[in-house]
Amino acid sequence: MEMPQLIWRPMRADDVELVAALEASIHAAPWTAGNFRDSLAAGHSCMVGEIDGVIAVYGVLLLGPGEAQVLNVSVAPGQRRRGFAKALLRRFIVQSEAHGAEQMFLEVRASNASAIALYHATGFHEVARRRGYYPHREGREDALVMRSALALHSRAVAG
Ligand SMILES: CC(C)(COP(=O)(O)OP(=O)(O)OC[C@H]1O[C@@H](n2cnc3c(N)ncnc32)[C@H](O)[C@@H]1OP(=O)(O)O)[C@@H](O)C(=O)NCCC(=O)NCCS
Repeated sequence: MEMPQLIWRPMRADDVELVAALEASIHAAPWTAGNFRDSLAAGHSCMVGEIDGVIAVYGVLLLGPGEAQVLNVSVAPGQRRRGFAKALLRRFIVQSEAHGAEQMFLEVRASNASAIALYHATGFHEVARRRGYYPHREGREDALVMRSALALHSRAVAG
């Protein structure tokens, strides 16, 4: 069966309610519609990937001086393990390099094995641990801080 095509485009203000609803179905501590609006207003790179006009993947990248931070990467539950998150990270890497960033950072819950596997697969390595950073249903949970040097990064995810 032929794979449906994923179409990338910037997130728009009129996507926010739908994206926030998807986010609430994915994350334990979801971003709100207001958080997405704030990111759009702040000029963060907010991308969505659509299949047949339905958002399957979205993410947010903050481009700062010399470095970029991945703030959100999420894939609809029915669309996982098709390479969509990896494709989004590749786009974020290209944008970060074009912006002159030399490194990228992100934070991830220490229990989020699938996301950690994704980030390892795209050239990120753990550089720090923030104890009790995230709320968790049984108290708090550590965050792993992961980093990728962009020149190495591009090689790691090439192909
Ligand atoms: C983590 C997440 C973004 C991965 O999205 P995805 O589109 O399924 O990931 P990809 O298909 O691009 O996977 C790329 C690679 O990451 C790794 N990976 C992704 N999901 C994995 C899983 N469940 N178990 C093990 N490895 C996994 C694999 O190496 C995979 O390559 P492979 O499929 O060739 O083995 C998705 O599971 C998700 O949205 N989870 C909930 C939200 C979240 O945790 N976001 C990240 C923190 S903000």
